[in-house]
Amino acid sequence: MLSLVAPWLSAEIAYPSVWAELDGGEPALVAAAERIGMRPGSRLREAIWRDGRRFDQLGYELLHPGWIERMGDPGVGIETEGKPVAVPRSPAPRIWPVGDGPIPANAMAVGPRLALRPFEIDDAPAIARASREEPEMSFNARGRRPLSPLSVEAWIARQGEQTPPGAINLAVVLRESGELIGEVNLVEIDWIARTAETAAWIYQPRHRGGGLGTEMKHLLLDYAFDRLGFHQVRSYVYDINPRSAAAVRKQGYRDAGRQWWISVKGASFVGWNVFDLLADEWRAARSG
Ligand SMILES: CC(C)(COP(=O)(O)OP(=O)(O)OC[C@H]1O[C@@H](n2cnc3c(N)ncnc32)[C@H](O)[C@@H]1OP(=O)(O)O)[C@@H](O)C(=O)NCCC(=O)NCCS
Repeated sequence: MLSLVAPWLSAEIAYPSVWAELDGGEPALVAAAERIGMRPGSRLREAIWRDGRRFDQLGYELLHPGWIERMGDPGVGIETEGKPVAVPRSPAPRIWPVGDGPIPANAMAVGPRLALRPFEIDDAPAIARASREEPEMSFNARGRRPLSPLSVEAWIARQGEQTPPGAINLAVVLRESGELIGEVNLVEIDWIARTAETAAWIYQPRHRGGGLGTEMKHLLLDYAFDRLGFHQVRSYVYDINPRSAAAVRKQGYRDAGRQWWISVKGASFVGWNVFDLLADEWRAARSG
């Protein structure tokens, strides 16, 4: 199937890049991908649970030869794979909550400056306003999308409808005042493999770049690894967003490869960096 579909999508439908996620424990599939000219882009460690064992998930990509000729060959993504980060620069604190101070209502996780809580319908206007006022385009390659308070209300109302949920979205509030300043997310949850993609958004630029992103991510990881029993998480960061890449690296995520040409910005292609983090690595860094 792969040898039929990928060349068709590339040569006939003319996708600049065709991406396939393969089970690293299926060598025939990987060989088939390589036979049709697909190249390794990423390796997510231990992301697949099959037959009582874990296997890596391999991302393979097929770049259109016409675009390679025009843009130059960007190379093979997995060459940028890094070693697991033995000691992240900002490991999580060993004990939550940290320090004294007020604990906001409904808090599920509490750090020195922040707390995570479920979203409430009343949060909708602030989120919609933030989407309209967002000055940066580093995390939405295709441009900013203003949200209406009604659509955000509907999104909040849908949280928790599904059991088990496909995504867990949590509000981030300042511990001292209870002010809503952002969100963290576990999306594309696989409850069998115990994996998810993580995401984060601090709504106002004035709160960015001061370490709050790292604190809120560690609160999310504490929830994911220690309470939900997740095994591994991954993250995708556009190559036009170096601040987010710096943030996940210092939290302990490891470079797991790259995916080229997944979107366009202006007249250029953009790709993203892929990161992964195992629960054991995060715990080891924390206790160290
Ligand atoms: C991504 C985000 C959650 C990170 O939170 P944060 O509080 O800003 O991050 P931190 O302050 O913990 O860490 C940011 C790091 O990036 C570094 N950094 C900032 N701008 C940078 C740049 N242009 N290039 C490289 N590094 C940069 C900072 O120096 C800091 O590293 P340091 O602590 O070693 O100095 C937050 O910036 C945000 O919400 N951004 C907008 C939404 C977004 O990009 N979401 C992620 C989508 S993948």
